[in-house]
Amino acid sequence: MISVEKGYVDALIPEGTDLRSEILRLKREKNAVIMAHYYQRPEIQDIADEIGDSLALAQMAARSDAAIIVLCGVHFMGETAKILCPDKKVIVPDMNAGCSLADSCPAPDFAKFVAEHPGHTVISYVNTSAAVKAHTDIVVTSSNAKQIVESLPADEKIIFGPDRNLGNYINSVTGRNMLLWDGACHVHEQFSIEKILQLKKLHGDAQVLVHPECRKPVQMVADKVGSTQALLNYAVAADCSTFIVATESGILHEMQKRCPHKTFIPAPPEDGKCSCNECAFMKMVTLEKLYNSLRYELPEITVDEAVAEKAVKPIRRMLDISRNLGLIK
Ligand code: 13P
Ligand code: SF4
Repeated sequence: MISVEKGYVDALIPEGTDLRSEILRLKREKNAVIMAHYYQRPEIQDIADEIGDSLALAQMAARSDAAIIVLCGVHFMGETAKILCPDKKVIVPDMNAGCSLADSCPAPDFAKFVAEHPGHTVISYVNTSAAVKAHTDIVVTSSNAKQIVESLPADEKIIFGPDRNLGNYINSVTGRNMLLWDGACHVHEQFSIEKILQLKKLHGDAQVLVHPECRKPVQMVADKVGSTQALLNYAVAADCSTFIVATESGILHEMQKRCPHKTFIPAPPEDGKCSCNECAFMKMVTLEKLYNSLRYELPEITVDEAVAEKAVKPIRRMLDISRNLGLIK
């Protein structure tokens, strides 16, 4: 009997196994697709069929015709894929891959907050549990939050959760006054404004790329504030050769691949000794865990049917609005 007690398949891998070729073989045999977020380890990004940010992953899941989706990302991403594809097997190689932002918004507390503020449209960032999505009218990601908020009437009362930094950013660029949930991502909140300014002094013509989950002072020194995908697109197109990147450092792999002649410097966290600009949850997926998860088709994501039935509506609404706005195909 194979155990997933630890949150991942803890099975011995025979010595000398060529993990890459075995993963590719199993994937073909089982009609599985491997999707990975840009914050995954480089070797996971390189073996994935599709890589993308949170919006792209939801979109890929929605239109996938594979029998099995292996979601190399964090738990809420697997849940979103399962909610969109209830008939498919959705596997996350390590169920311990959580998200501090999603954890900052427990569903019962969020439901209470919503109930205390009747008459509001509830917008939730995709970095939330299925149970929070079930209390939501429209899900957004950082790639479409601004445009989706702008698509609503100017006087619409809005609750936005759970990321306070993204919420404040959207309020500032849209002139709205959304009621914000007080949550945050422990990785994006770690960047040191002082160290970024020091780096800027050292690299005179470097541009600063900042994710809107970062704190306001960091956003204020940005040449570009945007989602992971938007920052990547900007780096590819910009007529500049050096960038200081204030988001999870996994994106540097794709930036460097797409722009081999440009220089990307990860923005340092406050604590010089930690690797806090890496999301430990995202890095839990390894080639070994990916191999074992495909081999045993475990651990599988499940979502309570009643919750999924409610949560699918705001996710589909996000995809529909994004399509109508021309943000996705
Ligand atoms: P995006 O993928 O939407 O940029 O979100 C960043 C993030 O923190 C994902 O967990
Ligand atoms: Fe969650 Fe932050 Fe990790 Fe993204 S980077 S998965 S928001 S903890």
